[in-house]
Amino acid sequence: MKIAFASSEVVPFAKTGGLADVSGALPKELANLGNEVKVFMPKYYQINEHEHGHHYDSLIGELKVSVNGHEHSVHVFYGKLPNSNVDIYFIHYPNYFHRNKIYTNDWDEDERFILFSKAVIQVMQKLGWEPDIVHTNDWQTALIPVLLKENYGWDKLFHNAKTVLTIHNIGYQGRFALDSYKKAELPPELYVNNGPLAHEGDSNFLKAGILYADIINTVSETYAKELLTYEMGAGMDSYLWHRYDDFYGIINGVDYSVWNPEIDKYIPYHYSMEEFSGKFKDKQFLLEKFKLPFNEHVPVIGMVSRLVSQKGFDIIEDVLEELLNLDAQFVVLGSGESNYESMFQKAHNTYPKKMGVYFGYSEELAHLIEAGADIFLMPSHYEPCGLNQIYSLKYGTVPIVRKTGGLADTVQDWNEYNELGQEIGNGFSFYDYSGQAMLQSVKRAINDFHNKPVWEKIQKNGMIKDYSWKHSAREYIKLYQKAVSKL
Ligand code: ADP
Ligand code: GLC
Repeated sequence: MKIAFASSEVVPFAKTGGLADVSGALPKELANLGNEVKVFMPKYYQINEHEHGHHYDSLIGELKVSVNGHEHSVHVFYGKLPNSNVDIYFIHYPNYFHRNKIYTNDWDEDERFILFSKAVIQVMQKLGWEPDIVHTNDWQTALIPVLLKENYGWDKLFHNAKTVLTIHNIGYQGRFALDSYKKAELPPELYVNNGPLAHEGDSNFLKAGILYADIINTVSETYAKELLTYEMGAGMDSYLWHRYDDFYGIINGVDYSVWNPEIDKYIPYHYSMEEFSGKFKDKQFLLEKFKLPFNEHVPVIGMVSRLVSQKGFDIIEDVLEELLNLDAQFVVLGSGESNYESMFQKAHNTYPKKMGVYFGYSEELAHLIEAGADIFLMPSHYEPCGLNQIYSLKYGTVPIVRKTGGLADTVQDWNEYNELGQEIGNGFSFYDYSGQAMLQSVKRAINDFHNKPVWEKIQKNGMIKDYSWKHSAREYIKLYQKAVSKL
């Protein structure tokens, strides 16, 4: 199949969260399965074409992309996803994409991604490349299915193309004034007088994608069910019900060529299930990095996260004092909302030997925490998939999670057994979204940390799990086939 994959972030070029990991890995696996894949992303200021060996695509040359009645002159850079044969096209329009952040609150945020979405379509036109599947991700590219039908429907190139929209996070919908649909130059009857694309009087790019994509999916089965509820659907539940027959859940895979303690290029000591001693040394190294005293009998609890309310920081706040009074140490790596930064900074100031913090983005520290910590804490309020708990499993770092979304699908509590009565637990989990429920799980984990045979069993149950993309990429192929066979 010919698959176009459009995303606003792709590892290793630009990343704010898991979407980038998925966009850097899934296309490669799809190509390994024999498909022709082309990836599209904006060329942000931070992306240096020389560093990655990309070049200006003179074959494509200039594209005239129309937004709000103005024609913008757009250019394209071309390269390959690292260690693969997958083409990647960078949409180059400095006026929109040379900002100091990937996502902004600027007045033209809508225009940035309208232009990107149209440019993706126009690159395919310029190449005369007829896709079977156009796979879009989150609100930033969710208008593509709409544009393909309404604005570019005249072009035979797309007459057999089917569209897939993956929802990575319902919390971000691309909601703007209704006028944004006008900027996208969509037919007015679709949104004026409360037309079908209007949402509470606004435009909402994700809703538009949900109504137009041939197939919709999200990134775990449990989250797919949760999205159909009023409580968790963030206003999209009724539209998803409307598309129920075309709505699926597929758990993300992870890239074990990057996230694997046997070969991880960021960690000083490698280790595996058979030869575990490196983890112990990584723990020492990690604590030195965070200037915390080392004691092998004290568990280190790690966190790597965007500092946003989705991730459960309010319930941490509720019991922070109690957590810090446990016989454990904490290392936190995060960037995001300043109130959470100051919460952790204060905890560090009061308990400098127990709480280590780093605010900002650091690939190296993210890997080091996965390797050096004993426990990984992820008490999310909601979690579409979550990748860090899956990385943790591979690194023998026992996850403590709230049983929601992808966390529920990947972490089994140590109390859980399978139908054969075998202990399948690879972590600890709790249901109630409350500080006390989380605290009980943390206490249980610390308790079992001191019981070496039990702890090793929990670690191994996690390490033997295979969440490589192989399985999930095949699930996407099945989804594409369903899309292709639709009338
Ligand atoms: P989300 O996409 O909601 O942020 P995921 O768990 O799916 O959550 O993915 C988060 C990804 O971002 C992981 O690869 C994680 O290591 C990375 N990450 C998050 N915060 C940071 C940070 N401050 N520094 C480095 N990597 C981070
Ligand atoms: C989103 C979700 C996260 C998921 C990631 C990749 O950012 O918050 O749970 O793992 O997308 O699909």
